[in-house]
Amino acid sequence: MDVNRRQFLTYLGVGTAALASVATGIPALAAGNTLSGKTADHLFGLDTKKHNFNPKFKEIHPTTKDDVVLPDGFKYDVVASYGDKINAAGDTFGFNNDFTCFLPIEGKSDHGLLWVNHEYLGELEYYVNGYDYLNADEDDNKRTPEQIKKYLYALGGSVIEIKKENGSWKLVSDSEYGRRVSGLTKHVLTGPAASIAKEVTGTFANCSGGVTMWNTILSCEENYMDVVGDCKLPEAEHYGWVVEVDPFDPKSTPKKHTALGRFSHENTAMVLAPSGQLVVYMGDDAKDQYVYKYVSKGKYDPKAGKNNSKLLEEGTLYVANFGKGKWIALDFATNEALKKAVNADGKPMFASQADVLLNCRDASKAVGATPMDRPEDLEVHPIDGSVFIALTNNDKHGNFYGQIVRLFENDNNHAGLEFTFEIFAAGGPQSGFAAPDNMAFDSAGNLWVVTDISSSSMNSGIYKSFGNNGVFFIPTTGNSKGEAAQFASAPVGAEMTGPWFTPDEKTLFLAVQHPGENLKSYDKPTSHWPKGGNAVAMPSVIAITGF
Ligand code: FEO
Ligand code: CA
Ligand code: CA
Repeated sequence: MDVNRRQFLTYLGVGTAALASVATGIPALAAGNTLSGKTADHLFGLDTKKHNFNPKFKEIHPTTKDDVVLPDGFKYDVVASYGDKINAAGDTFGFNNDFTCFLPIEGKSDHGLLWVNHEYLGELEYYVNGYDYLNADEDDNKRTPEQIKKYLYALGGSVIEIKKENGSWKLVSDSEYGRRVSGLTKHVLTGPAASIAKEVTGTFANCSGGVTMWNTILSCEENYMDVVGDCKLPEAEHYGWVVEVDPFDPKSTPKKHTALGRFSHENTAMVLAPSGQLVVYMGDDAKDQYVYKYVSKGKYDPKAGKNNSKLLEEGTLYVANFGKGKWIALDFATNEALKKAVNADGKPMFASQADVLLNCRDASKAVGATPMDRPEDLEVHPIDGSVFIALTNNDKHGNFYGQIVRLFENDNNHAGLEFTFEIFAAGGPQSGFAAPDNMAFDSAGNLWVVTDISSSSMNSGIYKSFGNNGVFFIPTTGNSKGEAAQFASAPVGAEMTGPWFTPDEKTLFLAVQHPGENLKSYDKPTSHWPKGGNAVAMPSVIAITGF
């Protein structure tokens, strides 16, 4: 008899072991003896079913297998791995792929450009440029100029051209669109803080991102300070921004839009307000940091095409106060709290809007915004416009499993100043997922969520029951709203990032990031994915088909 946990607890509510035995088919006496024993461990345990619905796939169970594990009937193709050639000039695919965004060519769902972020190197830096990270003295950075150049080239993003032929996705290795935007590429700044530099070199720590309504991509600089330190860069203020790239124009110069603020940006979610103003939701992924939205001054004009990019240069940046359900404008001209804010030495903290944008964390604190439990992805529901926020976790508050918050703007006005919210789904053994990170919606409004249990705590202690990181399917309406079913499991040490569907929803792209992370010795890789055998694990983008 297949009894799920909820039903079983209902039986237990009646308070007799006999009823439990009816539910389980275990004789009453045995059941009575087992409530604290092995059988009861199983019944209360973590491999019982956690929901009441039937997803359109045969869900998988948590596993520690060193592979991408998928439901029956689904398969994956490796589309691109670190070091793959992506154009005729010989540029190569960067390291630790994260955000992916498929941009169709001629509206097709089997041919297009894929933008891919490259976030960081980590300990696998050894395999990339020979720097012995594991045994390095942190206070004595011995990276050579040549190693630093390789480091910066491996980060940023890639434009790759991909095609589905005979049922399999493949990289076009001599594509005219193939392009690297890296830690070495020239960028320009726009907006109120553009005065700090005419042009800046490089983008890195590119975590997640988003797409614009004019078919360019936004790539988010997250933990830039690590790279600034590792690569001995003098100008930290050039990083921590949202970067716009036009993948269809290989000669275009990427833009860093300072009006969207500087912090550890996770992603962007763009939507139109009823007024026609553009709204961009964003999170600062660090413990006790904040949730933001940017509202453009001007209105979106479908006929203006790529000139709508100007809307990201002038507008208002807001930060959320969840206790009051209000958005607070981080606007130096009108917000008295920003004018009054002083440093420890009694001097004014900000003298201009540029100062506010450069130091969003201080500004948010000064105006009483609500510190959150690591806001990762924000995504807008395609049917009802509610805003989903993945709060990964925050051990400082005893929030180890994280949760997904659903924010409702008053009158569904994304440019408005007031909102309410609910806890849509909570991580933990009861739901089967922990540490929600990137999210994607399908057109029916179901949520697809990837998890990011850190590789140092994965498969041990309170995280043991979850197995490797995974991908989960969560309905957002009906009786099973908020309940999760596992769709995929990641290789050892990896996190699945950057879920993105093709327009026909027959392919799901995912970036498998940091497989084999947290190794103790370079001679003993903990993952050999995707090549298997004794190969060193390589971060790679995959295309899942079978939908
Ligand atoms: Fe790069 Fe917030 O994950
Ligand atoms: Ca992330
Ligand atoms: Ca993460």
